[in-house]
Amino acid sequence: MTPMSVPAEPELARVVASFETPGAVLASTAEQFQAQIAKGLAGGGSLKMLQTFTQQPSGRERGQIVVVDWGGTNARAGLVELGGGSVRIVVEETLVFSEAQKRGAPEPVFDLIAGAVGKVAAAQHVGRAPLAFVYSYPARLERIDRAVALALTKGWRLEGLVGQDVGGLLRAALGRAGLARIELAAVANDTVAALILLSYQARSRDAAARPADVGLILGTGTNLAADLGPAGIRNLESGNFDGVGAVDTPYDVALDREMADPMPGAQRFEKMVSGHYLGEILRRALRDLGARTAWFQWSASPAMASPFAFDSAYLSRIARDRTPALDDSAALLRSLGIESTREEREGVRALGAAIARRAARLVAAALVGTLRFVDPELAGRRTIAVDGSLWGGYPGFDALVGQALAELAGREKAARIETAFVKDSTSAGAAVIAAVAAAQRSQ
Ligand code: BGC
Repeated sequence: MTPMSVPAEPELARVVASFETPGAVLASTAEQFQAQIAKGLAGGGSLKMLQTFTQQPSGRERGQIVVVDWGGTNARAGLVELGGGSVRIVVEETLVFSEAQKRGAPEPVFDLIAGAVGKVAAAQHVGRAPLAFVYSYPARLERIDRAVALALTKGWRLEGLVGQDVGGLLRAALGRAGLARIELAAVANDTVAALILLSYQARSRDAAARPADVGLILGTGTNLAADLGPAGIRNLESGNFDGVGAVDTPYDVALDREMADPMPGAQRFEKMVSGHYLGEILRRALRDLGARTAWFQWSASPAMASPFAFDSAYLSRIARDRTPALDDSAALLRSLGIESTREEREGVRALGAAIARRAARLVAAALVGTLRFVDPELAGRRTIAVDGSLWGGYPGFDALVGQALAELAGREKAARIETAFVKDSTSAGAAVIAAVAAAQRSQ
């Protein structure tokens, strides 16, 4: 048989099925995740369980805080006003980084960020003000304002950054820009910002309200933060969880092996779950099917030719296409230089749905593992603050996670787990973290 002669339909069905995560496998993934939390707290395993040096807010925090949010292709500088419950983003400046900048020296990146802070300060006549720095990459905090960079994620690799204090680098860049009066008050991860913002909102309405238990980001990258009681609020860096061997496909294995950043073996969970990777997994599956069957002869399209050229946002758009013949998907593919048949479009859609569903189920397993670590019987009410473009953008992602939570925890216990979408939580949450830090210092 020549490779091209493999019948397309059953082969497609086989590949779609390879993304399935049976209940029993998912349950053991949740168990492994829970066990890795304990291991991570003891200093081993794939979960870093990083300290955050932040505490739950009272809900009464106030003040004007300059915020830097750096965690993807874009960064933002802004000014946030906290009114003891309310949050107002007064102004925001967005920066976009080029691929070259993502691989260069750290200082130019920090100078660009400081420049954006300068614009915000000038526009709003900010003199002296505290600054909250959201650094959404792995970092080992030694104090609330000292964060030592670990290996970067999401396609970044800045020369010589690992081991340096990113808070200090930002402070130095602010100094170079003549902005020394804007003082770094806190460095935080985006997951922690989401968690803290939800707690702030709840407690400003009712001072006795239970704070949020977990912060989850599902965007370009993925990660969890959790309030572990005596162990404090921890940044799990769950993207690095490596207990995924039972649910990976040859595409995942090849993607992991062939990428330099993050290095092979690192961020295995993130590489199967987050927005930076889902389109790439789909591209690899389509190329493989194109090489072995008569369908998907699309290798001439730039979107198929190079890694990461098939954007994860396309998965969301195809999933949203409600036309019987998938006309919008046809238009999207045509804009990428691809002519498709209806069967092929249905195939792309089935593949994309299977990849997204697996991501949602893995996220549910990580959540159940985390919540069981805190509350083994899942007896209490739990709240998860969620933000990110994949959760917000992929149709029905929350329902997929909800179904898997019910499968893992049982309907009754799953009903006590609430996921709250806190859109655009990063800057607002970071401002609350800085205000909490200021209150702690003055005590
Ligand atoms: C980073 C985390 C971050 C997550 C979501 C991951 O790649 O390692 O620190 O929280 O992305 O932005």
